[in-house]
Amino acid sequence: TAESATLAVRGDTPGPVYDKRIFTQFAEHLGNGIYGGLWVGNDRKIPNTRGFRNDVVDALRDLGTPVIRWPGGCFADEYHWREGIGPKNKRPVKINTHWGGVTEPNTVGTHEFMDVTEQIGADVYISGNVGNGTPQEMAEWVEYMTSPAGSLADERAKNGRKQPWKLPYFGIGNELWGCGGNMKPEYAADVTRRYATFVKAPANTRIEKIASGANGDDYNWTEVMMRETGGMLDGLSLHYYTVPGVWEKKGSAIDFDERGWAETLAKTWKMEELVTKHSAIMDKYDPQKKVYLAVDEWGTWYDQDPGTHPGFLRQQNSLRDALVAAINLNIFAKHADRVKMTAIAQMVNVLQAMILTDGSKMVLTPTYHVFKMYKPFMDGTVLPIDIKSPWYNKDQWTIPAVSASAVRDKAGVTHVALANADPNRTITVTTTLTGVTASRVGGTILTGPKVNSLNTFDQPNAVAPAAFNGAQLNGGQLTVTLPAKSVVMLDLN
Ligand code: AHR
Repeated sequence: TAESATLAVRGDTPGPVYDKRIFTQFAEHLGNGIYGGLWVGNDRKIPNTRGFRNDVVDALRDLGTPVIRWPGGCFADEYHWREGIGPKNKRPVKINTHWGGVTEPNTVGTHEFMDVTEQIGADVYISGNVGNGTPQEMAEWVEYMTSPAGSLADERAKNGRKQPWKLPYFGIGNELWGCGGNMKPEYAADVTRRYATFVKAPANTRIEKIASGANGDDYNWTEVMMRETGGMLDGLSLHYYTVPGVWEKKGSAIDFDERGWAETLAKTWKMEELVTKHSAIMDKYDPQKKVYLAVDEWGTWYDQDPGTHPGFLRQQNSLRDALVAAINLNIFAKHADRVKMTAIAQMVNVLQAMILTDGSKMVLTPTYHVFKMYKPFMDGTVLPIDIKSPWYNKDQWTIPAVSASAVRDKAGVTHVALANADPNRTITVTTTLTGVTASRVGGTILTGPKVNSLNTFDQPNAVAPAAFNGAQLNGGQLTVTLPAKSVVMLDLN
C-alpha cells in the first residue's frame, strides 16, 4: 500500500552551515579498530603505506573524512602518550584493561596516528588522559605535538617529525562520569577547568577544547558543565548510543525481526529529544552559541557478533544501520546551529563501523554508503524544512515514517535527504520548494530486499547505492516515490 507525506523545503530562509565535522570518525584502541583494521605493520600480503592498509585509507579518503577522534573512548583516560613514541621495539606492551584485557603493543602512537590522518586527509581530534594522567602529562603531549621549539620539539624531530603538527581539537578526557574517573559533575567541572588550563596552543595557532559531556539524558551534567566551565570551552560533548534491547542483552546486529527494526529506529529518534533538551540548557548559559555540542559518540551498539571476542565490540552492519545513520544525520541538520561536530562510533571493525576487515579482506558497510551519499552536505547551508509524515509503528514503537533534511552546497546545488523507515510501504512525498531554482532532479538510493540486508566479504555489494529515478520535478513541486526501507539523496540543479 502507498502512503503520502508532504515536505516543504524553504530555500528562501537559509539556516546555519551543516558543519563537515558532523562527519567526524572515531578510532579507538579497541578490538580491531586500529590493529588489523587500519594498521597492518609490515605484513606484505596487505598493501600498505608505512604500515597502514591502503584499501581502508583509500575508502576513508573517498568519504572526505574531515576529522578523526583518537585514541579513545575509555582507552584515552589511561593512555600515556610517552609509551607510544620512539623506537617501536622499546615501547612497553600494556594491557588494554577496558577492551578485552588484550595486550596493547603501543605500535600505533602519536607519530603513526598523525601519519594515517595525513594519508586520509583528516584533521585530528585527540582525547587527553584526565582519568589517570596528570595535567603536566597532558600539557607536555600538547607541546610535543604542536611546539616549533624547545626540547619536546627536538625530541619530536629526533623521532622523525620536525614540523609541528596541527592540533585543531583536543578533548579534556572522555566520559568523566564513567570510565574516565566516575566523577560527579561538580568535580568533573573543576577537573575540566584545571586540565583545560594547561592545554596551550603555540602563538598564532588555536586548539579547540572539548569537554566530556553527558551520558544520554543526564541533563544535570550539561547544566553543571555549562555553568561551571562554559567560558573556557569550545565544545561540550554528548554520547548516545542506539541500543535496541537492554544493556545486558542488546540484540543481534543482523538476526532481528520487524519489531527489532522498529525498536532500533524509535530509539534512534531519541536523539532529537536529547539534542533539543541539551541545546536548551546550553542556550541558557551561552545564548550566542559560542560553545558547540559535539555528539562525539553515536550509533548502534548490539551484542557482539557470534564467535567474536566480547571486548572487541565487533558487529555486522545492515540496512537497519543505514537508516539509523540517515535519521541521525537528518536530526543534526535541524540542530546545526548548535551541533557542529559529531562522531559515529566507530570507524573500522567496532560498533557501527564504516568498514569491516578480516585479514586482507575488506567490505564497506551500508553505513559507509550513507556517509558517502551525504558527502555533499559537508559545509552546505541547511535549508529549513517542514514535514508531515505518516506514522510508522510496530508494537509499541511509533515514529514518523519519513525523516528528511536539506542543504544547499557551495555550488548552489540543493540536496534533499529522505529516509523511509517503514519497511512495508512506499511513501509519496509531495515536496514544495521555495527559493530553490532547479530544473532537473537526480539522485541516489540505498535499499535492500530485507530489513537486515547486509554486505559480506563474499557479497560486498548487496547493499550499495544505485541511481534513483523516483523523483519528478514540475515547476516548484517535486514528487518523490520513496520505496519502503530506503535512504534517498536527491540533487537539484
Ligand atoms: O565506543 C565504545 C565506548 O563507548 C567508548 O570507549 C566510550 O567512550 C563509550 O562508553
